[in-house]
Amino acid sequence: MCGIVGYIGNRESQPILLEGLKKLEYRGYDSAGIAVFTEQGLEITKTVGRLANLEGRLSGDPLRGTVGIGHTRWATHGKPSDVNSHPHTDNTLKFSVVHNGIIENYLELKEELMHKGHRFLSETDTEVISHLIAVEYEGDIVKAVQRAVSKMRGAFALGVLTEYEPDKLVAVRYASPLIIGVGEGEKYIASDIPAILEHTRDIYILNDGEMAVLTRDSVQLMTIEGNLISKEMFHVDWDLMTAEKGGFDHFMLKEIHEQPKAYRDTMRGRMSEDGRSVVLPELKMTPDMLRGFKRVHIVACGTAMHAGLVGKTVIEQLARVPVETDVASEYRYRSPIITPDTLVIVVSQSGETADTLAALREAQRCGARVLAITNVVGSSVAREADDVIITLAGPEIAVASTKAYTSQLIAFYLFGLYWAQANGTKNEAEIAHILAAMESLPEQVEKILAQAEVLKGVAESISRHSSLFFIGRGIDYAVALEGSLKLKEISYIHSEAYAAGELKHGTLALIEEGVPVIALMTQEELYEKMLSNIKETKARGAHVLGIINEGSEGETAKSVDRQFAIPRTLPILTPALSVVPLQLLSYYASLALGHDVDKPRNLAKSVTVE
Ligand code: F6R
Repeated sequence: MCGIVGYIGNRESQPILLEGLKKLEYRGYDSAGIAVFTEQGLEITKTVGRLANLEGRLSGDPLRGTVGIGHTRWATHGKPSDVNSHPHTDNTLKFSVVHNGIIENYLELKEELMHKGHRFLSETDTEVISHLIAVEYEGDIVKAVQRAVSKMRGAFALGVLTEYEPDKLVAVRYASPLIIGVGEGEKYIASDIPAILEHTRDIYILNDGEMAVLTRDSVQLMTIEGNLISKEMFHVDWDLMTAEKGGFDHFMLKEIHEQPKAYRDTMRGRMSEDGRSVVLPELKMTPDMLRGFKRVHIVACGTAMHAGLVGKTVIEQLARVPVETDVASEYRYRSPIITPDTLVIVVSQSGETADTLAALREAQRCGARVLAITNVVGSSVAREADDVIITLAGPEIAVASTKAYTSQLIAFYLFGLYWAQANGTKNEAEIAHILAAMESLPEQVEKILAQAEVLKGVAESISRHSSLFFIGRGIDYAVALEGSLKLKEISYIHSEAYAAGELKHGTLALIEEGVPVIALMTQEELYEKMLSNIKETKARGAHVLGIINEGSEGETAKSVDRQFAIPRTLPILTPALSVVPLQLLSYYASLALGHDVDKPRNLAKSVTVE
């Protein structure tokens, strides 16, 4: 996720901007830049790579001035490169913009501007914003920004400067966080508190649809329509470490809570405006090519593989194409049968996992077209695949994957629906129905998160056991596998995930008095069968926690010891909700046992060896 810092005051801005960007480094980025008002006017220095590269460029040729904006970029539109880095400017070089978020209609806007003679240097959506503001400028930067913003759809946090009004810094927030820092004779903007914590603890937190006009001595707050507002100042008493984690105790907990945003960001711009179809303009393969694929191999590792297991059901049910799934480390050694009509889908948060990359190369060597679902633009997997769907989870720092996994699920839903459109296996009304349910997922996750305390209690009792079981049927089984992996990796408690109907073929022997069993029971068609399987475990003394759909509490209470209800959604979408309580259970179990939640033993975030 990108980082923004801005400064207007009486001190040199360059060191303040660079220090601020350094404080955001933990979030991950691929390029960086700053724009400063110097005696020559608005000057920009930016470069791909680490902040050290930017510092290197600036050391010989510093930008001297007391007003500036800075940015660290995590690529979404266009690869990481010097020219795609922020800040961006317009053809007159009089305006400069830093931006976090995504402008959904940037291609439309760009085309209009190109007709008017504008030339664009980058592949980014942000460059369009600086041009748009320049077009709208009639002597008042605040009005120009408001008019420009009214034409934009999507998510944006903006910092805007213009050479015409060098004593103003304009900030806008819409669905991407932005704060204003208040100091004596100086003001700041930032995407996150750590960037400015060294200078001030007094901040205004902008809400969606609000903007601020900063001078050295004032902060004017208003809506993006121009209505003045007032708000309470927030005094931050966090230390730097807590601020980096957004006030959460661990990155994992922060990332679990970021899932509603990750869902919204991954869906944004990928549904038609009327909500009746999926649009995936990033795909190079045409609907005709898609219709030509007769089978699919989904290949990935670990948690990404578990997302692939959900993806299998999604593609099979929606597009009616048969899917095989493989762990990447096995795939290329089993001589997979890859025909010209096989589509290989690789899934990888980092895009750098050695086994996944090797599987991708093997598939391409055998003539397959490869679609990658990855979270990192410019990663090896993203560069080498023939088609890419980027998940917009933002950088994931905790080793245990949470928001990346659920964003992969969203990517599978979108792709499955897109394929169903092409194949005609779902009609427009059915697609609209599923999309509407998907749009409710973020709010439904928020409801689950609000009940975290309940799960904390359950996790504490689980943490006293040395072994437990996750069971489920159908798509619930895929989620059981992910729940079990999450628990193992951060709490070090042994657990196994079983297809519930399979228990009686051997594993039931391990169930004895008091063994915890977590039963996923979200699939109505399989509910009765699940009840029978639960009875088999209870008869041997198991202590069962049921993960159920809201509304079935009364019925299920007779069969389980405890239950946790998730909001109702369509059966195929339940994994996007049912995994959240399992993530929280693992987190709290690890916490209860005093483990290093974010950096579990023996594990690395990105596994670049085979
Ligand atoms: C578990 C986890 C791992 C990764 C796996 C693949 O929480 O994060 O199982 O999912 O190492 O990593 P990526 O997705 O980066 O290819």
